[in-house]
Amino acid sequence: MGKTDTKAILGAEATDTTLEAQRVAAFAKFQPTYYFDAVKEMQIGGATWRVLATADIEDTEDSDFLGVVARWTSEAEILIPPVQRTEVLDEQPCGTTDELWLGEGIEEISRTHRTLHPKRLDKDKPLKEEVVVVRVCNDVLARFIPRTQSAADIPFYYPKVSEFAFGYLEPTTSSDGGADHAPWQLAVLVQELETGATVATKKHKGIWKDMVKKLYKWTATARLGYQKRQVHDVLVDHEAYIAKYQELKGKYADYWVKNWPEQTDPRKFVFEDIAIASWLICLWAQEPGKGSPSFVDLGCGNGLLVSLLAAEGFKGHGVDQCSRKVWSAFKPTVDLRVSTLEPFDYTADADWIIGNHADELVPWIPLIAAKSPKTKFVVIPCCPHDLSGKKMNFATVAGQSKYHAYVEHISRIMGTCGFVAEKEFLRIPSTKNVALVGRSRTGKADMGEVDQMIQDGKNAFVARVPDSVKNEIRLEKSRKRKLEASVE
Ligand SMILES: C[S@@+](CC[C@H](N)C(=O)[O-])C[C@H]1O[C@@H](n2cnc3c(N)ncnc32)[C@H](O)[C@@H]1O
Repeated sequence: MGKTDTKAILGAEATDTTLEAQRVAAFAKFQPTYYFDAVKEMQIGGATWRVLATADIEDTEDSDFLGVVARWTSEAEILIPPVQRTEVLDEQPCGTTDELWLGEGIEEISRTHRTLHPKRLDKDKPLKEEVVVVRVCNDVLARFIPRTQSAADIPFYYPKVSEFAFGYLEPTTSSDGGADHAPWQLAVLVQELETGATVATKKHKGIWKDMVKKLYKWTATARLGYQKRQVHDVLVDHEAYIAKYQELKGKYADYWVKNWPEQTDPRKFVFEDIAIASWLICLWAQEPGKGSPSFVDLGCGNGLLVSLLAAEGFKGHGVDQCSRKVWSAFKPTVDLRVSTLEPFDYTADADWIIGNHADELVPWIPLIAAKSPKTKFVVIPCCPHDLSGKKMNFATVAGQSKYHAYVEHISRIMGTCGFVAEKEFLRIPSTKNVALVGRSRTGKADMGEVDQMIQDGKNAFVARVPDSVKNEIRLEKSRKRKLEASVE
């Protein structure tokens, strides 16, 4: 592997002074208001909440807030340091909410059952908790509800509440009298078990102050994430990724570099696919449930990524319209299928769809996933295509590359399909290194628009002609030319 490849994969933190300046500017605007002494209450949904802290936040959207909540739901240890790890037991994209929360304008976005495993097992038992994310008119509320037999079972590090919540709240009025330009508000809310118990000590207050600060910083940074340039390790922990990469490289790189049966340079594919497999494995380790998720790799090309994931114990298959020589070098258990997909009619029978540089299939993948309530996906866009399968350039804004305009375009499709567009710059040699992850649903899919896009795409889509057919046509033409020449 050349120096550049090593740097791309293991690379040092990218420096981006503009981003840093934006971050500093956003954090400087953090001016929380605490309601520890003067009690403030708020009606949201069917409940009255005690408000502990609020902070105005500019230039964000509820998808930023939802992205933060999704991450904190699967990794409570980020927010609550005494927690060692979070075990997500099950996740429901939507469902019927409890009675208090039924009503006009109330919509449940997700409901997750999880267990918080403490660092000090001698002090605390694991805590069962439910995280319910609801939209109440335009407000979004993430409710954290401990499921204990009695208040005495709540561990020492957890607030003494029947539930607490983070709110992303619509502005009501602003200083100029209108709500249009007023900033949205982040809020920390509680349902106390005993009045005043949550703010009884300096330590309690410190915990709430820390929470609202983290909520503000993470939400503000999520928005900057759409503008920033290369920032790695947002979705997957750097150390875990590097450890996995080194492990897989040790197991597979040497063999495939030496035994690559294709004409192509093995180093171009082997290290890149090992890096992507390592990153996916780390990402999937965050998934709820015990078993490994299943996958389908659409437009899998040489199939190396499928073979690496299969060798690491993941069940899945790859599909491509052209088989490759290297396919026969894989173990027979590596499931690679030749098929020209018509993406408008395709339904995935796997937990995750992968679309790694999958050309014209990339813009279709969020639409395919939108039609299937359980399917999540990762796309790594490459050359810009529209839904007709044609190459297409999308409008750029000042300083934006065509590639990043395309990434934004795919993110927008994800938004229409009701996915939080989580973004990661992968440490791979390719400069087309943005992974977009669709694993959290916003509950705001515009299914009318999705159906329309599928219908319009279906009318326009023309699958590419497989290379084998192109060769056949070329050969046929050359045979014809030779025949004509011999007749003359
Ligand atoms: C740029 S290659 C990427 C291959 C592989 N994922 C990688 O990163 O090495 C895109 C692949 O998508 C496949 N492809 C494009 N449209 C397809 C379709 N409609 N059905 C099946 N495969 C398709 C092509 O055959 C090609 O192998």
